[in-house]
Amino acid sequence: TQLEKGGHRHWMSKEIAEQPGVLADAIAHYASEDAIKLPQDIDFSGIDRVVMIACGTAFYACQTAKYWFEKIARLPVEVDIASEFRYREPPIGPNTLAVFVSQSGETADTLAALRYCAGKARIASVVNVSESSIARESDIALPILAGTEIGVASTKAFTCQLTVLHLLALKAARDRGQIEPAIFGEMLRDLRALPGLINQALAVGPDIRETAFALSEAEDILFLGRGQMYPLALEGALKLKEISYIHAEGYASGELKHGPIALIDDSVPVIVMAPTDELFDKTVSNMQEVMARHGRIVLVTDADGAATAGNDTWRVLTMPTAPSQLAPILYAIPAQLLAYHTAIAKGTDVDQPRNLAKSVTVE
Ligand code: G6P
Repeated sequence: TQLEKGGHRHWMSKEIAEQPGVLADAIAHYASEDAIKLPQDIDFSGIDRVVMIACGTAFYACQTAKYWFEKIARLPVEVDIASEFRYREPPIGPNTLAVFVSQSGETADTLAALRYCAGKARIASVVNVSESSIARESDIALPILAGTEIGVASTKAFTCQLTVLHLLALKAARDRGQIEPAIFGEMLRDLRALPGLINQALAVGPDIRETAFALSEAEDILFLGRGQMYPLALEGALKLKEISYIHAEGYASGELKHGPIALIDDSVPVIVMAPTDELFDKTVSNMQEVMARHGRIVLVTDADGAATAGNDTWRVLTMPTAPSQLAPILYAIPAQLLAYHTAIAKGTDVDQPRNLAKSVTVE
């Protein structure tokens, strides 16, 4: 297996490193110069509502996609955890598109939620395993083309899920006449440039590793993000607790003062996911509230963000500058690497964390 791991110490590190390649494959599979092609067409002009359902990391991919569908395609989206959705008997109509996101395609609660929707709504799934139950029972199955993922903590499947969901949001925007062809073409070009940016983010690895060694001493860590970076804060916290067993919470930056700020002192590192976008200044003021209480900030941002806000922070991790809508995919890399290197520093079992399963087929 050492050979299969391609020189990597863990599957997780191999799978993190594979992301530029698998993302490029997924993008090439679904997008040409000026169009998005799906295995079967979904015509979004007849759809007035999207519900997205998943568990774990896939749920955070859905939460991120909600920002894209609503902003780019002007289509209302509800996101739910499968184990909640399935017992709630939510009303679902024929103009609803129900999207199920699952790496394995076998998660019991997600499958049960899909079966609840069958016959009521159009059903699409975003899966890594094309022969899976969820794929088979969907009207349309969109493979994410990540290749086999072995590490229990999902990495490349997450960024591939995001990529396919981003493409789906662009398709919805186009079908609904919400985007000019020129802008659409530009966004496809941006997407094609993403694997290159991911490579650059991977190159920040040594800085991330150093920060992670310092983080490994902490007992609690907060992750903050605003807007489309909020679900990534949740995913960053999940990744960290899954493999390093450090207690971590993700919060929307604006919610900080409604509770978690009470936890802040100099022993609580706060990781802020904040590319320079239209919400950056708001997040910087949240950061200042933390620093005023001696919280230690790790600011994950781009060169502009580092120049404007990086001076008083404990550490800065500088990502390449990216088109705003793609930042959640790019910033998944530092989230994954922070968790990975923190776990290494703590000496935990990265690929087989205690109590967790790769695929949860019990309810
Ligand atoms: C388990 C895994 C997670 C995964 C979740 C959903 O909890 O440990 O990494 O995100 O199941 O799995 P799925 O296969 O449906 O994406």
